[in-house]
Amino acid sequence: MTGETDSSHRLRGNYDGMRPDYTVDQDLSAYTAAEHDRWRRLYLRQSALLPRYALPLVAEMTQRLHYEIGIPSFTEVNQRLKPATRWQIVAVPGLLPDEVFFTHLANRRFPVTVWLRREDEFDYIVEPDIFHDFFGHVPLLFDPVFADYLQKFGQGALKAKSLHGLEYLARLYWYTVEFGLIQTAAGLRTYGAGILSSAGELPYSIENPEPYRVHLDILRCMQTRYKIDSFQETYFVIDSFQELFEKTDPDFAPYYAALRDRPHLSADCRLPGERSYGHQAG
Ligand SMILES: [Fe+2]
Repeated sequence: MTGETDSSHRLRGNYDGMRPDYTVDQDLSAYTAAEHDRWRRLYLRQSALLPRYALPLVAEMTQRLHYEIGIPSFTEVNQRLKPATRWQIVAVPGLLPDEVFFTHLANRRFPVTVWLRREDEFDYIVEPDIFHDFFGHVPLLFDPVFADYLQKFGQGALKAKSLHGLEYLARLYWYTVEFGLIQTAAGLRTYGAGILSSAGELPYSIENPEPYRVHLDILRCMQTRYKIDSFQETYFVIDSFQELFEKTDPDFAPYYAALRDRPHLSADCRLPGERSYGHQAG
């Protein structure tokens, strides 16, 4: 965009000066007033949707984090996060190589992109920015069981590299951490960061009659391809984070062996005998 003086021009995809683990320092003074204002508008729009569509813990944590004023300080977040679950967030310039990303997770560090999307990307951005990473991922890092799951996922993924399992793990990550739904006493809710940070997909994932919502079966999930340029055609539903934790314990190796004889499935595949959760009336 011409005439825009956002710091994102300088920070976006700028891997200069990063450390060997791809982290950088967050320079809070680099964000412009326009960026803080954009953050605030994104934050307010999205947080207004949470009570209706998100897992109650996410709505509650987001409210408690109280970062509607502007782009948050990572240092300040870590002062609250570390005592809660021993996780911390680290600043990164953008997408990371798989091994670097999983090494961070395995060490209870969640990489958060430092730059914010442009104004013309307000509704949709292809790659993760600070709003997606922070708004979508940080609240759940305060949940002890989910926090443990994410670390275990990182540890399992590092092993998967040698087992050629990364494609399968990417699907599991996509359909849980990014686009997962959870059954609660209040009805179906979302906990996936990709949904939580999307104004369109948040209501769609819960209320739209079209997508398929099926209970999470790890093998079925790992067989299923996903769409990166449209809303999901299939969502996998869990009953609790404990279920997620137990289903992936102790590691993923037995799954890869079982998957060798199974076909890949399309994103809209419906198998006989599966029960869809249906949608929640709006
Ligand atoms: Fe994400």
